[in-house]
Amino acid sequence: MKQIPEHPKIKLINFPVIHDRRGNLSFIEGEEHLPYDIKRVYYLYDVPSGANRGAHAHINTEETIVALAGSFDVILDDGLEKKRYHLNRPQFGLKISPGIWRELDNFSSCSVCLVLASEKYDEDDYIRNYKKFLASVKKSSKK
Ligand code: TYD
Repeated sequence: MKQIPEHPKIKLINFPVIHDRRGNLSFIEGEEHLPYDIKRVYYLYDVPSGANRGAHAHINTEETIVALAGSFDVILDDGLEKKRYHLNRPQFGLKISPGIWRELDNFSSCSVCLVLASEKYDEDDYIRNYKKFLASVKKSSKK
């Protein structure tokens, strides 16, 4: 797993692992292993090879992305810099705060991307236009 340089809006979280000859077990408790209550869980699966997902930022929602099975890349962009993270182990979560543009690609076959969100689904919480995202970053840096 590639180390993630310090970024105030991006954090790699190492969840507990109970190692067992019968198989490993990890667990995630809201407000315990994540600094927010989990209000929504969604997952991407059956992603065809070569497909891209994401391409948006959130205004208020915190999300943590876990490669529950297989692997994929998450490209994070704070409006100034872009970084690609390869997720391939289910005990790690990539926590992304609002104001970060994310895209996902390079899905391996049979991969499952689990997302733990701090808010229920609300289309008004999305910025899906990259130009609007850059404008929002500029505006918040002036505050
Ligand atoms: P979309 O945001 O495009 O998925 P991704 O960013 O993961 O590629 O969402 C696809 C569709 O699913 C879109 O119509 C919104 C809907 N959706 C929900 O209804 N609830 C949810 O929790 C999510 C994440 C998406």
